[in-house]
Amino acid sequence: MSVGVTRGVALRGIAGHLVDIECHVGRGLPAFDISGLPDTALRQAPQRVRAACLSADVSLNSRQLTFNLSPASIPKHGTGFDLGIAVAALAACGELPVGAVRGIAHLAELGLDGRLRHVAGVLPAVLAAQRSGCAHVVVAPEDVVEARLVDGVRVSTATSLHGLVKAYRGAPRGLLPEAPETSSSTPAPADERRVDLADVSGQHEARAALMLAAAGGHHLLLNGPPGSGKTMLAERLVTILPPLTREQALETLAVRSLVGSMPSRGIDLVPPFVAPHHSASVAALVGGGSGAVLPGAVSQAHHGVLFLDEAAEFGGAVLQALRQPLESGQVVVARAREQVAYPARVQLVLAANPCPCGEGHGKGLLCRCRPTERRAYAARLSGPLLDRVDIQVQVPKVSLADLHEAPSDSSADVAERVVSARASQRRRWEMQGWQLNSQVPGPVLRRTPWRLPSATTAALDRALDLGQVTLRGYDRVLRLAWTSADLNGRGTPSATDVGLALMYRTQGAVAA
Ligand SMILES: Nc1ncnc2c1ncn2[C@@H]1O[C@H](COP(=O)(O)OP(=O)(O)O)[C@@H](O)[C@H]1O
Ligand SMILES: [Mg+2]
Ligand SMILES: [Zn+2]
Repeated sequence: MSVGVTRGVALRGIAGHLVDIECHVGRGLPAFDISGLPDTALRQAPQRVRAACLSADVSLNSRQLTFNLSPASIPKHGTGFDLGIAVAALAACGELPVGAVRGIAHLAELGLDGRLRHVAGVLPAVLAAQRSGCAHVVVAPEDVVEARLVDGVRVSTATSLHGLVKAYRGAPRGLLPEAPETSSSTPAPADERRVDLADVSGQHEARAALMLAAAGGHHLLLNGPPGSGKTMLAERLVTILPPLTREQALETLAVRSLVGSMPSRGIDLVPPFVAPHHSASVAALVGGGSGAVLPGAVSQAHHGVLFLDEAAEFGGAVLQALRQPLESGQVVVARAREQVAYPARVQLVLAANPCPCGEGHGKGLLCRCRPTERRAYAARLSGPLLDRVDIQVQVPKVSLADLHEAPSDSSADVAERVVSARASQRRRWEMQGWQLNSQVPGPVLRRTPWRLPSATTAALDRALDLGQVTLRGYDRVLRLAWTSADLNGRGTPSATDVGLALMYRTQGAVAA
């Protein structure tokens, strides 16, 4: 009996496990058996592999083939094992050099005509291979750029199985040649499509709120009539956040690789900005789906900003489903045989109209909604999600005067202040394992040594007494006051910082 062995990768979430694909050729009746927890797509591999091998002039039809994918205990999904299975079979049948294919991870689907086809998740798979010490992969031509993002891995390709067999046979010293460089693997030029905070006229309060949100990692609600610039502001948050580390960027791209939304070139260190539509389903927002468990918008926004425009229009179940990821920084989907986790550390920005008609209710405003309509609208947003939002700010309509004023601070200027405010926070909290003020639990801020003098918190204490803020709201104000102090280079919040934070708690509020 002869044996061929090569490698593949089993993905679970964005984590992956190197898998040995073993093929035994027996002398018995023709067979094509795969063991090692294959899913439906993988169980259909024989048809594709047989046809692809025929196109490479090798018939497997009369052979008794037994495949073992080990470790057997890990569930294996999808069509990405096709190529590995074919290569293991060809090696076992003596059509490929056994030694040459053994240590290489093969990650591609096979067409019936033998073509190597794209599979989702090449980036996380190659990352996993590299971490397990496998430094050579073979992928479909369209996946070469993605595989190359991982340092220290040799990437080979072929258009067809036939081409790969020829390449293996002709390889000098058995080493498969590297895929040719393509122009698209060069990084995207920076600033090509960049928006800037300086594009926003007026809106001083909202801009200050955006800077606070960026500095302390606070979730933010922008509340104002249509056309006032809420979407503009939200899109610009990523331009004032610190750039991602390469590792963070790869993690974010690994998620996007699974849903096929990889940018066409290079690694972008600007945090992702993801804005799902309000008709999005729970699965689209937090992940899941009926077949494979795919990451949702909240995971695609990992290390970046999740923007819910017209937040009150999102379904209640959808908003509710966001609670767990916001709390834990990850989404966990349980399935019969396994649990899949996707990272989801996001900063949330909500935009909402002040009321259903959009005008807003109050002095000088022309709201046409009935009070019951206004209350029902506010109730939709309040509760689960607003609980976690530290900053609520009014974004009024822009006036002509706003449009004519001198341009405001650029994103680069603001980003610099954000970076230094974050450095102060890290110094203060790192012993306790926090990075940002938004991560600090309220009770900590109310206890020594962080408790502020009563003269500093007088206005806030009064608001609590009068029932204008809840205790949870009180803690939010404290957190934000610390961020305000950090932005202004003060070691401890002053009454001004507390007053500002209180204003962001009460003035912009859609609901208490
Ligand atoms: N403060 C502003 N400064 C500059 N342009 C603005 C401002 N507000 C709105 N605009 C213009 O109006 C358009 C709509 O703004 P948008 O951000 O979509 O508003 P909203 O999300 O509040 O409905 C923008 O693309 C921009 O051209
Ligand atoms: Mg908008
Ligand atoms: Zn109204």
